[in-house]
Amino acid sequence: MTEEGLLVFKDIAEISGHVVKRWLNISANAIDHKGIFIVALSGGSTPLSLHKKLIDSKDLIQWDKIHIFLVDERFVPYDSNESNFRMIKETLLDHIKIPSGNIHPIPIEKGSAASASKYEEEMSSFFHLKKGSFPQFDLILLGIGDDGHTASLFSGQPALDEKEHLAASVKSGDTIKQDRITITFPVINNADNILFMAAGTGKAEAVRQIIENSNCRLPAAMVRPVSGSRTFLIDERAGSLLTK
Ligand code: 6PG
Repeated sequence: MTEEGLLVFKDIAEISGHVVKRWLNISANAIDHKGIFIVALSGGSTPLSLHKKLIDSKDLIQWDKIHIFLVDERFVPYDSNESNFRMIKETLLDHIKIPSGNIHPIPIEKGSAASASKYEEEMSSFFHLKKGSFPQFDLILLGIGDDGHTASLFSGQPALDEKEHLAASVKSGDTIKQDRITITFPVINNADNILFMAAGTGKAEAVRQIIENSNCRLPAAMVRPVSGSRTFLIDERAGSLLTK
């Protein structure tokens, strides 16, 4: 793993500006090498400012050569306020010219387990995977929950131990409002580039544990790329409890 570590920015706008630069570099390389750039986006509110900056830079971006997947989804219809796909569509996709075949939402099927299987099929077929192998995303963008979750990988959930499947379902419970579908650690860890974005004091304690405790078992700390890079991009408030 190439540990690029931690970069601290003034605020989410600066983090997002940095991510746009990384996006442009990584996508230019990927498109040079294989003709396309494959990225997985997160839900939540942190990506909103990034999406705005991507729209502002839309003329620099070869959208027809970009394939967009999602790292996770709530098991709700696409028109629900809770839908990650709805958020990504309204804040990014509706404002750019990208072929519909380049967008790969997590299907909402009969149940969250059926949806996870369907998304696994979608990834296997898109990446032409042999059984037992994992897709290699050029870039995965992740958030960090106040409780240290990332994607929909929450502490204590069986999805954390998934070693074979590409996608898993997560059952709703005390802290999880609806069932969810998430890509799994083997998929995240096989990416070429992983960028975490975290802003605000609510994230400060989780960020401290993830960065400073080498034995941290919070899900975001369990992201350890096989051969790619992992970088935490945080704002000053999310970094306010760091001691070093
Ligand atoms: C989601 C996510 C999730 C998110 C974190 C951070 O669907 O909610 O993909 O992992 O990235 O919960 O959320 P915020 O960006 O809203 O703080």
